[in-house]
Amino acid sequence: MKAAPAYPVISVRNLSKSYPLRSWWGGKADVFRAVEDVSFEIRPGETLGLVGESGSGKSTIGRAVTMLNPPTSGTIAFEGIDLARLSPQALCRTRARIQTVFQDPYAALNPRMSAGAYVAEAFRLHRPDMARSERREAVASLFARVGLDPHFLGRYPHQFSGGQRQRICIARAIALKPSFIVADEPIAALDVSIQAQVVNLLQDLQDDLGLSYLFISHDLRMVRYLCHRVAVLWRGRIVELAESDRLYEDPRHPYTRRLLAAVPLPDPAAERARLAARETTNPAPGRPGDLVEVGPGHWVAADPLPEETDR
Ligand SMILES: Nc1ncnc2c1ncn2[C@@H]1O[C@H](COP(=O)(O)OP(=O)(O)OP(=O)(O)O)[C@@H](O)[C@H]1O
Ligand SMILES: [Mg+2]
Repeated sequence: MKAAPAYPVISVRNLSKSYPLRSWWGGKADVFRAVEDVSFEIRPGETLGLVGESGSGKSTIGRAVTMLNPPTSGTIAFEGIDLARLSPQALCRTRARIQTVFQDPYAALNPRMSAGAYVAEAFRLHRPDMARSERREAVASLFARVGLDPHFLGRYPHQFSGGQRQRICIARAIALKPSFIVADEPIAALDVSIQAQVVNLLQDLQDDLGLSYLFISHDLRMVRYLCHRVAVLWRGRIVELAESDRLYEDPRHPYTRRLLAAVPLPDPAAERARLAARETTNPAPGRPGDLVEVGPGHWVAADPLPEETDR
C-alpha cells in the first residue's frame, strides 16, 4: 500500500445530522440525532474505514459527505472548497468528482437500461461535449478496466451476476474521474469469493487513479486489510480513530474493544482485545465526548461507555 500524502481531499468538521421524529398521528414531535459532531479528513490516495454497529450513523455520514443528504450542521470541504457555499451548478460539477458505490448494485442500476447505456449516462449528463463515438469508446474501455467483457455492454442488469453488477456500478463511479468515492458496504451483498475480487479491484483503481475512499463496512477483517485508517462510530459519534494496525492492536475505547472482541480474528492482538473488552475503565481522561490524542494520530473519546440502551 502506498503512503498517503498529507493534505486532505475531503475534510469534515463538526458534522451533525438530525432527522425529525414524527409522532404516529403526524405531528412533529422532536428530532433524532443520527450523527453528532463528527470530524475527520481523508487524504489523497487514502482509504478511511468507517465501522460501527447497525444504526450508528455510517450511511448518514456517507450521504452527508456526498451532499446526497446534506448535514444539519457542520462543514464538508472537498479539495479545500466548502460544498455548502457552492452554487447549484458548481455543486453539480463538483459532485461529478465525488461518487458513491452502494451495497445493493441491483437497486442502484436501472432495470430498463443496458449496462452500457447506464455507464454512458454519466457522460451524457456531465460531458455533453463528447461525441457519441467517443462516448462508446470510453464506456468500452471502462468496462475493460473493471474486468467486464465489453461484449456485455448491451446486457440488462438481470443478466449479470451480483459481482458483475457491482463492477458496472464501479465503472459508472469512475467514469468522470472522481478523486473521492464513498463505498457504503460495497461487498456486503456479495458471495465471499467475489468480495475479495471487488476489494482488489477497488485497490487497483486506487493505485491507478489516486482515489480516496470512505469505506463503510461491517467486515472488520476486510477493513483492516483495505484501510489506512479506521474511525469507529458509536451512536452517531466517533469514539476512536487511528491507523488500522494501531486500532486493531491497541484498541482503547471500550466500544472498539467490544466490537473487535465480537469477531473471531485469527490474530493474537485480537485475542488480547477480546480479553481487554472486559475492562470498563474510562478510555482517556478529558471532557466527556472530546477526542483525546493518546498516541500519534490515535484519537479516543474521553467519555465512558454508558450502559446499553436501545436506539
Ligand atoms: N431518512 C431518515 N429519517 C429518519 N431517520 C433516519 C433516516 N435515515 C436514517 N435514520 C436513522 O438514523 C440512524 C442511523 O442510520 P444509518 O442508516 O446512518 O445507520 P448505519 O450505521 O448505516 O446502519 P447499517 O449498518 O444498518 O447500514 C438510524 O437510527 C436510522 O433509523
Ligand atoms: Mg448503512
